Amino acid sequence: MTPDLSVQIAPKNKTGLLLANPVMTASGTFGYGTEYAGLFDIQRLGAIICKATTLEPREGNPQPRLLETASGVINSIGLQNIGVKALLKEKAPVWAGWKVPVIVNIAGDTVEEYKELARLLDGVKGVSGLEVNVSCPNVKAGGAAFGADAAMVAEVIKAVRKATSLPVMVKLTPDAPDIVTVAKAVEQAGADAVSLVNSYKAMAINIVARHPVITNTTGGLSGPAIKPLALALVYEVAGAVKIPVVGCGGIATAEDALEYIMAGASAIQVGSATYSNPRAALDVLEGITGFMEKEGIKSLKEIIGAGRGR
Ligand SMILES: Cc1cc2nc3c(=O)[nH]c(=O)nc-3n(C[C@H](O)[C@H](O)[C@H](O)COP(=O)(O)O)c2cc1C
Repeated sequence: MTPDLSVQIAPKNKTGLLLANPVMTASGTFGYGTEYAGLFDIQRLGAIICKATTLEPREGNPQPRLLETASGVINSIGLQNIGVKALLKEKAPVWAGWKVPVIVNIAGDTVEEYKELARLLDGVKGVSGLEVNVSCPNVKAGGAAFGADAAMVAEVIKAVRKATSLPVMVKLTPDAPDIVTVAKAVEQAGADAVSLVNSYKAMAINIVARHPVITNTTGGLSGPAIKPLALALVYEVAGAVKIPVVGCGGIATAEDALEYIMAGASAIQVGSATYSNPRAALDVLEGITGFMEKEGIKSLKEIIGAGRGR
């Protein structure tokens, strides 16, 4: 018998967000989904999370903005995207014909911008939920990331919550001094789920030219290097909140994904792994299914959090 991989990631929400399986693609690493449609059957995935979307189109940071490291990637793309108007006109109508739910990752410089994005995306066919990227600098509050401060994140989420009835997932930054407090504040503010982690602040220096490699000086580290770090944060957050936790960070194989699920994640996201293997997310899904069959696990629910204690 095929195991039941379905999972509800927004149980508090009126419409909810029921995924056929727990495997999603991480924002910024899978475009708008359309780019990968010719490579494998993307409709088999649990959900697709699109590139961060801002009110106006953005060109992103100047090159170089991507660097391969010993065990991951440093990126400083800087929210390059087509803007919400083009997304509504060109992408959402395509997604509306898809079986796989698409979650739109939103980013802003002020609370008002997040609120306006949530309002514009509310009730749009083809948009099944929002992922709020709070790793962006708060322009009005001097540029510190919204996500580093529990009170600031709560303000963003309260505003977003009021502006939409869509399921709202909040993408937490690992650079927050106390991610558990931020997760609790977000839950209190009305989030339906939390996803973690975004990339870790990182840098590299060109020792011959004597300057940072990345034009923006620092970027975000992702990939295999961050998996054990992110896993520990997922473990901690899953022990502190009641809303579903979605794990992300260095997942390249089914074994990686299963570690997150057993740490307490209800679902997972595959990010940088897609760069070396475009069908990584599908390989992870097939591997999870194979593991469950081999171990006689009938439902995903049996293993969520199953590895938390000795
Ligand atoms: C090139 C690149 C672009 C990214 N863009 C976004 C983004 O637009 N919004 C966001 O929330 N996260 C973004 N991320 C972070 C990923 O979604 C993910 O949280 C992070 O890469 C960790 O997962 P991984 O180790 O599996 O890549 C980006 C990551 C990379 C590598």
